[in-house]
Amino acid sequence: MSSVLSRAVGLLPGRGGPRPPDSAAVLSALPVPVVVIDQENRFRLVNHAAEQFLGISVSGLAQLRLPDLVPADSPLYLLIEQVRQTESSVANHDLTLESPRLSKSGITVMGSPLPEEPGAVVLVLQDSSAALALDRQLAFRGAARSVTGMAAILAHEVKNPLSGIRGAAQLLEASVVDSDRELTVLIRDEADRIRALVDRMEAFSEKPIQRTAVNIHRVLEHVRRLAQTGFAEHVRFQENYDPSLPPVWGNRDQLIQVILNLVKNAAEAIGPPSTAHPEIVMSTGFQHGMRIAMPGTAERVNLPLYVAIRDNGPGIPEDIRPHLFEPFVTSKASGSGLGLSLVAKIVGDHGGLIEVDSHPGRTEFRLHLPVVSEKDSD
Ligand SMILES: Nc1ncnc2c1ncn2[C@@H]1O[C@H](COP(=O)(O)OP(=O)(O)OP(=O)(O)O)[C@@H](O)[C@H]1O
Ligand SMILES: [Mg+2]
Repeated sequence: MSSVLSRAVGLLPGRGGPRPPDSAAVLSALPVPVVVIDQENRFRLVNHAAEQFLGISVSGLAQLRLPDLVPADSPLYLLIEQVRQTESSVANHDLTLESPRLSKSGITVMGSPLPEEPGAVVLVLQDSSAALALDRQLAFRGAARSVTGMAAILAHEVKNPLSGIRGAAQLLEASVVDSDRELTVLIRDEADRIRALVDRMEAFSEKPIQRTAVNIHRVLEHVRRLAQTGFAEHVRFQENYDPSLPPVWGNRDQLIQVILNLVKNAAEAIGPPSTAHPEIVMSTGFQHGMRIAMPGTAERVNLPLYVAIRDNGPGIPEDIRPHLFEPFVTSKASGSGLGLSLVAKIVGDHGGLIEVDSHPGRTEFRLHLPVVSEKDSD
């Protein structure tokens, strides 16, 4: 194994200088899931990223064969057979790996033969939907910033005249005949709607966030209560929390806003009559190995905590997906399309990340957030 890897990465032993790093250590550190299966499709080697990707530990995988995780009719087996027969690398995009133990879509799989071990295949798995979502998040940060500037202009140019229009409509209301009153009410309501929109845009301000240690479970509880007594009365909630999690290093009000926007979207997606048994699952847990480089610094932030909001609705519409986090993107008649854009901005300001996985019957937004470190509590 090590000779194969050394050759593949072009390490030349015996040149003097420092010893090349151990291939197994490199493989383990690689943030891309890598799996080696033998001729009988047993797992021979998995790296750390693959354990996370499959959600099963090395010792668990050692007992399993690929068919225990991926059903026999999956195109993955065609790819593996092609690699064995042609003894060359084969790639397949946008695969869905769906079984009772695994649910992943938009997966890119690359397979290569291992010449030293006949029939063995190296598989590199990549969640391209998550990678794309991350890309987009970086792109939308700029978009959110453009909302900031626009909100300031709107506040100035729209809000002031708007209150004048609203006041005038109210005055008219008292003097017009009944049949025209409907029109003055319409003017007032529409003025209120525009004002609410401008108010929401003002949430995109560039103020630095005030952080404290936040108990994320209290935040989730709070949002669930708000939701259940209001917009999500029709929904069954399920909570799946890891009580041992440390506090998040963040701003409580902003985190409430983030979770509220996600739960509201989920509730709207499973609103009657679209989903027969509407359900939202809120969960938290540890996810090791999630790190992000802070823009403009050499610092790497650990994001060991995740919060996931999942619904059983129809999934995110295809035409929305490429622009999901951009402002003003909406599929709803009365939506402003600011919810996810604001979510993304706040999570970005916290140094966190969002992943999205959506297909019919299952949509999950997963936030990765920083926890309080010793440095923060000084
Ligand atoms: N859980 C979900 N299931 C299906 N589609 C979703 C889900 N969450 C978001 N979407 C899609 O993403 C779009 C954008 O969401 P976003 O929250 O940014 O705006 P909105 O909900 O349309 O309006 P607003 O939040 O401003 O009221 C939605 O219109 C919807 O099409
Ligand atoms: Mg929304």
